[in-house]
Amino acid sequence: MSETIQTIKGMYHINTYGCQANVHDSEKIAGILRCMGYLEAADEEEATLILFNTCCVRENAENKLLGHLGQVKRMKEKRPELLVAVCGCMMQQDAAVTRLRQSYPYVDVIFGTFNLHALPELLDAARQGGRQVVDVWESHGDIREDLPVQREHSFKASVNIMYGCNNYCSFCIVPYVRGRERSRGSADILNECRELAAGGAKEVLLLGQNVNSYGSETGGAQSFAKLLREIQGIDGLERIRFMTSHPKDLSDELVRAIADCGKVCRHVHLPVQSGSDRILAAMNRRYTKAGYLELVRKLKAISPDMRITTDIIVGFPGETEQDFEHTLDVVRQARFQNAFTFKYSKRTGTPAASMADQVDGETVDRRFARLLEELTPIAYEISASNIGRTVKVLAEEVNSADPGRVTGRAEDNSIVHFDADASCIGRIVDVRVTGCRTFYLSGLVVRYPNPCGDRISNCSPMQPGLVVRYPGEVV
Ligand code: SAH
Ligand code: SF4
Ligand code: F3S
Repeated sequence: MSETIQTIKGMYHINTYGCQANVHDSEKIAGILRCMGYLEAADEEEATLILFNTCCVRENAENKLLGHLGQVKRMKEKRPELLVAVCGCMMQQDAAVTRLRQSYPYVDVIFGTFNLHALPELLDAARQGGRQVVDVWESHGDIREDLPVQREHSFKASVNIMYGCNNYCSFCIVPYVRGRERSRGSADILNECRELAAGGAKEVLLLGQNVNSYGSETGGAQSFAKLLREIQGIDGLERIRFMTSHPKDLSDELVRAIADCGKVCRHVHLPVQSGSDRILAAMNRRYTKAGYLELVRKLKAISPDMRITTDIIVGFPGETEQDFEHTLDVVRQARFQNAFTFKYSKRTGTPAASMADQVDGETVDRRFARLLEELTPIAYEISASNIGRTVKVLAEEVNSADPGRVTGRAEDNSIVHFDADASCIGRIVDVRVTGCRTFYLSGLVVRYPNPCGDRISNCSPMQPGLVVRYPGEVV
């Protein structure tokens, strides 16, 4: 696809609802639109094309979309030339497409997760025909290596290493809307990472629904462990992150690779979902509580700085108080740095949707609150253990609430706010941690490299109002 922009065709605005895979798909969609001659609009009002990249993993993601589409209806009434397109995981479900066709006729284009590359033709058809254009494929074609990507940042980048999922966890819709697991060739991944590093990327985030089974179709010729070792060798890249790791496929070979590769961040996102063996079996997760805790132990043995984050579902069908107690016990033993906690959401078409004993809303709410009570103090303790240390932070953005501060991520996944200006964005900065809250650290720049060489910063004292202070710090 040509990178040259001939004429400006319009202004696009993309709303993305889903996970990192969806966010990265939106970067590809933006890449395609740029090649077609579209530029990014400042907001929806300025846009001549509004695109919704949807998620259906839980009901609230779907509801958010429908609410937002309602608002766009009014915009479309005022500006009939506005094009509205809806794509992504939700559109891979027949019922959702039917609903949109019946109740949202002002949506011009509907397409799915398998045919992003068809966007130019679909938009042309919509513009010419004045009718709703629907093109949703039932399964994937060959992996497309030729799609342009308009990345949000130059200093960090997502890289797909595989698509789809074969695991069929009984609660999850993803395998139905993203298709079977397929890995990209390692040469393609390495080339992309090298190009990113040459363009200034410091950090890559390797993406897949289950990165640990990368290459499984090659009979061992390619594996995630081998891939990490190869990416480790790329000059210029300083950090490697990945998500998501499925516990059932976290091999010793992979633990060794994480340990050996200094660029692999000391953070693993390892969704546990539940601590009850009975519920884990009903979820089709294929590991046990003890097996999970053993993996956590092996990962933490790599380094005392290793941080584990997780996903937990509360209220899976049939979950009893005793099952839930096991989940709380895993939280206490694994000591998560952070957890994404979800109330179970019934997804039509998944095995769990038709299971008996769906848990009532009140019980789910109570357990959910109890879970947070268990998670929060541990997260706080982990956060506070950084006080007084100097951590390396990839500076990502000027803090929206305070333009005198910059926000970034430490190697261990902590969010760090520190006094600095935009000149450090995209660099890895040494920050002395002077304070914390449960889910972020605050600090002062000790040193950061800049194009003119290293300089000692002249920072003002830390912001007031922090819960914990570095001993002796002037506030
Ligand atoms: N592939 C990843 C997860 C992708 S979905 C993995 O296996 O870890 C992200 C998270 O959404 C899941 O880990 C799960 O915690 C949550 N989730 C998925 N389906 C859900 C449902 N039906 N109800 C509530 N949470 C769900
Ligand atoms: Fe869903 Fe399970 Fe696949 Fe993750 S591994 S995407 S939770 S089916
Ligand atoms: Fe949602 Fe699709 Fe990701 S359902 S979580 S956007 S793979």
